[in-house]
Amino acid sequence: MQYTRRDFLCLIAAALVVSLIPVGSAEEKSSWSFGVIPDTQWKNEMDAPFHGTAIHIIDAINAEFVRHKVDFVIAVGDLVETSSAVAFQTRAAHNKALDEAGIKFYPVRGNHDAVDLEAVAQFRAAFPGLPTNSPDLPGAKGMTYTFNHKGGKFILLDTFRLDDGSQRGKAYTVDDYLPWIESELKKDDHHFSFVFAHKNLQGQNHKDNIFGADADSNPEMQNAFISCLQKNGVRYYMSGHDHMYHRSLVKNPDGKSEIGQIICGSAAHKFYLPDMSFLKRETPIKQELNRIGFVIVRVDGDRIRFEYYSTEPFGAEPKTPTWELRDSFLVEIDK
Ligand SMILES: [Fe+2]
Repeated sequence: MQYTRRDFLCLIAAALVVSLIPVGSAEEKSSWSFGVIPDTQWKNEMDAPFHGTAIHIIDAINAEFVRHKVDFVIAVGDLVETSSAVAFQTRAAHNKALDEAGIKFYPVRGNHDAVDLEAVAQFRAAFPGLPTNSPDLPGAKGMTYTFNHKGGKFILLDTFRLDDGSQRGKAYTVDDYLPWIESELKKDDHHFSFVFAHKNLQGQNHKDNIFGADADSNPEMQNAFISCLQKNGVRYYMSGHDHMYHRSLVKNPDGKSEIGQIICGSAAHKFYLPDMSFLKRETPIKQELNRIGFVIVRVDGDRIRFEYYSTEPFGAEPKTPTWELRDSFLVEIDK
């Protein structure tokens, strides 16, 4: 059940007609916001001053997060090209502007951040003090975690090799995490919630996803995860990995549940193009390729507005880019 690029583009065009809602004041007094920065992996870890991370792009995006006065920033993985102490320390050092503005940074790892078991300790050392409300699984504390902020619950999943005390470590699956995810979502301690991880529900370029090697991997796990999120009011799952902006609705294999996914763009020079094998159970809404971008989510009571900003690629030199709002849509929370 695949469709062609022409079908795909028609779906995007049709969806745009109904999905773009005019935005109101960006600075409503009662509202607050958070930022999401996608993949920053770039160059080689030995290539100073970058050390495997797009330092000038990070600086430029963080300047926007400070200007927009976001409360905190989530990074959806692949912070560095190859996990190492110097790479993670370099990535963390370029959060200076956030630190000075009192903006907390919540990263979750991607596959490039997990090339070996040592990466866990290196990541913890570079990003200390992350929340420790985590699943009761060996090695997961502070790597997969949740936190609450002003009525929102934010769940970040590390699906890569963790130090569980064994020689090779263990990568936990969505199935491993699902009881904890469900228990957190069922708590009466939040008004809305979002789930984040590096890999996608369904990638555009990458066909490996949070469930396995391809779109057909572990269908029962897909059914359980997507239905759990939907029935507990999670409207969007946000991820990275694909180095493009892509918003869609994804049904689970049994067709009984559906949630939104946002692949949050690229914050490096690296971009991928969609691979023309898409599933009928994914409904594309908006996509942008080959631009550097980030997401700001604005919360005002029951109204949550997502904004995607992007600019022309740059990276090797410091730059103050011109950012354009390229996608904006409202979600009404009815939980
Ligand atoms: Fe990745």
